[in-house]
Amino acid sequence: MTTYQEAANKIKEADFLIITAGAGMGVDSGLPDFRGVEGFWRAYPYAKKLGVRFEELANPIWFEKNPHLAWAFYGHRLNLYRETTPHKGFKILLDIAKKKSDYFVITSNVDGQFQKAGFSEDKIDEIHGSIHYLQCTDYNCPSGIWSAKDTKIEVDMQNFRAKEPLPHCPNCLKVARPNILMFNDFAWKSEREQKQRANLQHFLNKNANAKGVIIELGAGKAVPTIRYISEELAQNLNATLIRINPRDYDVPQGAISIASGAKEALENIQNHLNS
Ligand SMILES: NC(=O)c1ccc[n+]([C@@H]2O[C@H](COP(=O)([O-])OP(=O)(O)OC[C@H]3O[C@@H](n4cnc5c(N)ncnc54)[C@H](O)[C@@H]3O)[C@@H](O)[C@H]2O)c1
Ligand SMILES: [Zn+2]
Repeated sequence: MTTYQEAANKIKEADFLIITAGAGMGVDSGLPDFRGVEGFWRAYPYAKKLGVRFEELANPIWFEKNPHLAWAFYGHRLNLYRETTPHKGFKILLDIAKKKSDYFVITSNVDGQFQKAGFSEDKIDEIHGSIHYLQCTDYNCPSGIWSAKDTKIEVDMQNFRAKEPLPHCPNCLKVARPNILMFNDFAWKSEREQKQRANLQHFLNKNANAKGVIIELGAGKAVPTIRYISEELAQNLNATLIRINPRDYDVPQGAISIASGAKEALENIQNHLNS
């Protein structure tokens, strides 16, 4: 039996589906992952010029030190994610999910691509937050979390500076920031994610005695949170993990490894499900 056939069989047998995803899920939509410092610098040549790595730039300190630079990075990404159309693999996943009694998405991506592809807002846990929401840079400010839908940010990519006006907190007028968990971040407001996590817990309780399958896509090793979550869920739920990743495809015993890009792998799985 081929790996694809095996994966398709596990999906067919399952009552519910959990999808876990990292930055690699967006690559086939044309989005960059930040794999290694070279990968990050390819996506952001200006960061190379500054000599800062992803872990250094994705740090709330820049909103104090140089908010125009901080917003160049996040404003560019906000615009990019807004312009991006999720690739066909998202639709295939959604079709599979809808045929099951229940599904849930857990992602470290902040890009909102699952919502854009039609996944239900209350079936997604964005563990690192979302770029489509904002908060005050001051953790103690009571302004909470608000949608970025009316926020427009123009970026001068030549000088890697966001143009005025930068988004500001409606309460205290300090500069606002994305509601994303950054590195060394003690000011991230987690209320939105906590609600999502409560939805996830409810889903897990409801399906405690059902048979599940986990499809993981594009989760890297640099920040291995998603990989750990997938492995832990597989173990706790006694569910099969299907890991899709063209490079980091090694799996624990009992899991299925598909060494391919997300879109191609999902198209192949779909073909096997239909055959
Ligand atoms: N789109 C986003 O929201 C976005 C993008 C970059 C980084 N981030 C953040 O940065 C951190 C990065 O960790 P990460 O593990 O998600 O990303 P990563 O960049 O460290 O790793 C990406 C992974 O995707 C795999 N990959 C590459 N091309 C692929 C394809 N076509 N199909 C499937 N997989 C492919 C790579 O082999 C790698 O394992 C996360 O915390 C995340 O919040 C988010
Ligand atoms: Zn404020």
